[in-house]
Amino acid sequence: MRMILASTNRGKYREMKEQLLPCGTELLFGGDLPSPPHVEETGATYEENALLKARAWALSAKLPVIADDSGLEVDALGGAPGVHSARVVPGKDSARTEWLLEAIKGADDRSARFVCSIAVVFPDERSPLTVTEYCTGRIAESPAGESGFGYDPVFIPDGYDKTFSELGPDIKNAVSHRAKAVKSIAEILKRVIE
Ligand code: IMP
Repeated sequence: MRMILASTNRGKYREMKEQLLPCGTELLFGGDLPSPPHVEETGATYEENALLKARAWALSAKLPVIADDSGLEVDALGGAPGVHSARVVPGKDSARTEWLLEAIKGADDRSARFVCSIAVVFPDERSPLTVTEYCTGRIAESPAGESGFGYDPVFIPDGYDKTFSELGPDIKNAVSHRAKAVKSIAEILKRVIE
């Protein structure tokens, strides 16, 4: 089955393509479409946003579309920044990590989790598929490491004492919320395709 990724993020594409191949899915890069739609992420949940993106892209595609939405939930902030993770403060990723470290300064509880929802929308009458997965951990005292993006320099996954940025892509791609969500949707797609 051929499927379009509703994203112009090539890093996400590489990650997902490899993981989806074993379930018989050939992933096409959304960035290669002539006019990729711009979708406002107005949903109250990650799942709603993933469905919004997949449905918007499906309007111009005659193939199934896969979309993801993700965010960071910090317990000391009552689950913020959550679905607003990408835009809680304007500017570069480093502006948001600085905001986060300031917001939880002095907090005893630094626990947090990444969340990722994935939706698949079909061009026929089949119902959409959705999954949501998590990666629990804690927020570091200061940023560390170079790799990854977003809040990776300040997120320490459970079972490790280094940030995602220090641990690098191999470990991140084995334990992350997105890797787990892609794995779950791949298992479901395998059953659907068979
Ligand atoms: P989106 O799902 O691409 O819209 O991501 C939402 C935002 O959540 C990103 O811009 C990041 O700030 C944050 N985020 C989601 N996943 C990750 C991750 O794996 N590492 C670091 N930050 C992430």
